Amino acid sequence: MTFLFNSDASRGSVFADAFAAALPDIPFCMDAASVDPDAVRYLITWKAPTDLSRYHNLEIIFSIGAGVDQFDLAFIPHHVKLVRMVEGGIVRMMQEYVLLATLALHRNLPAYLDHQRNRRWAPLPQRQTAERRVGILGLGMLSQAVLQRLKPLDFPLAAWSRSPRSLDGVTCHHGADGLETMLAQTDILVCLLPLTAQTHGILNSALFSRLPKGAALIHVGRGPQLDQMAMLAALDSDHLNAAIIDVTDPEPLPEDHPFWMHPKIIMTPHVASVTQPVSAASAVIDNIRRHLAGSDLIGLVDRTRGY
Ligand code: GLV
Repeated sequence: MTFLFNSDASRGSVFADAFAAALPDIPFCMDAASVDPDAVRYLITWKAPTDLSRYHNLEIIFSIGAGVDQFDLAFIPHHVKLVRMVEGGIVRMMQEYVLLATLALHRNLPAYLDHQRNRRWAPLPQRQTAERRVGILGLGMLSQAVLQRLKPLDFPLAAWSRSPRSLDGVTCHHGADGLETMLAQTDILVCLLPLTAQTHGILNSALFSRLPKGAALIHVGRGPQLDQMAMLAALDSDHLNAAIIDVTDPEPLPEDHPFWMHPKIIMTPHVASVTQPVSAASAVIDNIRRHLAGSDLIGLVDRTRGY
């Protein structure tokens, strides 16, 4: 009953120590070349290895990251469970990043950075947080944690999900009509959606046109959700005021891409939230214990939804 670790060695040594302490009966292996493929029950990896079919007794694939769009579900046998990374480190980092980006947009930081580069001393009108409506696309575990972190600042909060939800202190919308309603009332839009066939290209000109003039975007979902040309057009026509982007397509962007030097874009290299080995190892150990006890797994991917 081996656990096979397929990621970088520094994370691996943290996992190895945690497994030795918590699950000493499960052999831990970091070398796919020397492992007995029939012994492998659990695999942690970023992408499915091309020789996945050699692990006949595989029960669970753990994604090393929160997203699972890098896995092609068609190549994962139906009896194998796929599990997203749900761990405290990822959650905290996403809370920090969206808080940082929301406040940066709220306080006009992109414009002030541009002014500074142009030696301009020019105070801008400033709204209060109660007058700045934040709307989040997606209402999964990360969005809920982000909303909790934003609450004390008094921004009016809204969120949109596929199916109806309710959350204290958050105006919840769902479905196509709900999306239109939320967009019309959103000054800062946060994309925290998983990448699926339905969310591919969702940040497009139709969506931007539904936002009020002067709205801003925080994109921490996945690069292919954004129509880059549509966003540039919306920024250049002043319909959108600014954008803070952590994910792009491709990653990294080519050197001559217009995002790099755009005065209304702040871009970071997919660092909003990164799996933290210590807390990730304990999350995986907890899930293995749940699996062995026949309990529900945290972060289990629903194949019909794709996340
Ligand atoms: C990062 O984007 C992740 O999926 O954890």
